[in-house]
Amino acid sequence: MNVDIVAATAADLNEVLELLEHNHLPRAEIERHLGTLLVAREGERIVGCAAVELHGKAGLVRSVAVDLPHRGLGLGIQLTDAILALARSHGVKTVYLLTETAAGFFPRFGFRSIRREEVDPAVRRSVEFTKACPASAQAMRAELR
Ligand SMILES: CC(C)(COP(=O)(O)OP(=O)(O)OC[C@H]1O[C@@H](n2cnc3c(N)ncnc32)[C@H](O)[C@@H]1OP(=O)(O)O)[C@@H](O)C(=O)NCCC(=O)NCCS
Repeated sequence: MNVDIVAATAADLNEVLELLEHNHLPRAEIERHLGTLLVAREGERIVGCAAVELHGKAGLVRSVAVDLPHRGLGLGIQLTDAILALARSHGVKTVYLLTETAAGFFPRFGFRSIRREEVDPAVRRSVEFTKACPASAQAMRAELR
């Protein structure tokens, strides 16, 4: 697998939106977070992505996705490690996420399930929390060191 994880550019947005749609993940406002969006690039193609929304010292990890043919090869782990490092570099201390299908994937990065009321209010006001993600999605939190 010859894949590079790099910062996304505006030219990547359409392909990222397609990837999110195929994976049934919210697309809302991803363009507002272009500066903290990473893509996994195989040649000309985007085969994965991950983003973090910055809300002061809190961050919302979102849009972690790997296309089907590239799953199970460690790319999801690499993307998540990279997005957490990026969050840390922006001074984020605590990261949150919402997931419907991957709650078992994130504990390896220190994420633990929490109740929505425990989520930082700035993150709870985000579109992803208020509108985009279904109420059934599991909230998770990790402290960044
Ligand atoms: C979750 C996802 C990003 C993982 O990507 P991936 O490249 O297949 O994962 P990796 O190869 O890096 O990691 C594989 C490990 O994670 C585990 N894993 C992968 N997807 C998982 C899931 N949905 N739930 C629980 N564990 C999962 C694998 O069993 C494997 O564990 P092991 O190392 O103990 O064998 C990918 O399945 C995906 O795009 N899912 C759909 C979108 C989604 O739900 N995103 C998360 C919400 S933001």
